[in-house]
Amino acid sequence: MELIINGKTVTVEVEPDTPLLWVLRDHLHMTGTKFGCGMALCGACTVHVDGQPTRSCSMPVSAMAGKQITTIEGISSKAAQAVQTAWEKLDVVQCGYCQSGQIMSATALLERNPNPSDSDIDTAMGGNVCRCATYVRIRAAIKEAAKTLV
Ligand code: FES
Ligand code: FES
Repeated sequence: MELIINGKTVTVEVEPDTPLLWVLRDHLHMTGTKFGCGMALCGACTVHVDGQPTRSCSMPVSAMAGKQITTIEGISSKAAQAVQTAWEKLDVVQCGYCQSGQIMSATALLERNPNPSDSDIDTAMGGNVCRCATYVRIRAAIKEAAKTLV
């Protein structure tokens, strides 16, 4: 089947129920998107599908026909750049494993809401788990990024 990933059309030969995450990592060798729980519970595998943060571990590739898939390797919007700059400035990352998912969720939030409240941040980021507990820095970095967007 054909997939549109980071603006390019790619063809993959996979079973229709293969999770998008495995297609990205195993078939296309795009390893920026991480496997955590495999059950839509941790957010490590978050990508954007038509701009919406989506758990790729639990999304059959057959549901992706005609949709715009964006991975951590392909984000380039103003919000994405602001998020990445703020993440570096505030030194958010600890082990890093959860962080591509965190950045994808934060970017999706700021793309639709460039000035989020604490509760907006809680709602958008609540499904992204960080075992290193970088939550305070993540929140601060989202606010820092938002400052550069308004
Ligand atoms: S690996 Fe997909 S939500 Fe945890
Ligand atoms: S930085 Fe280690 S799990 Fe989040």
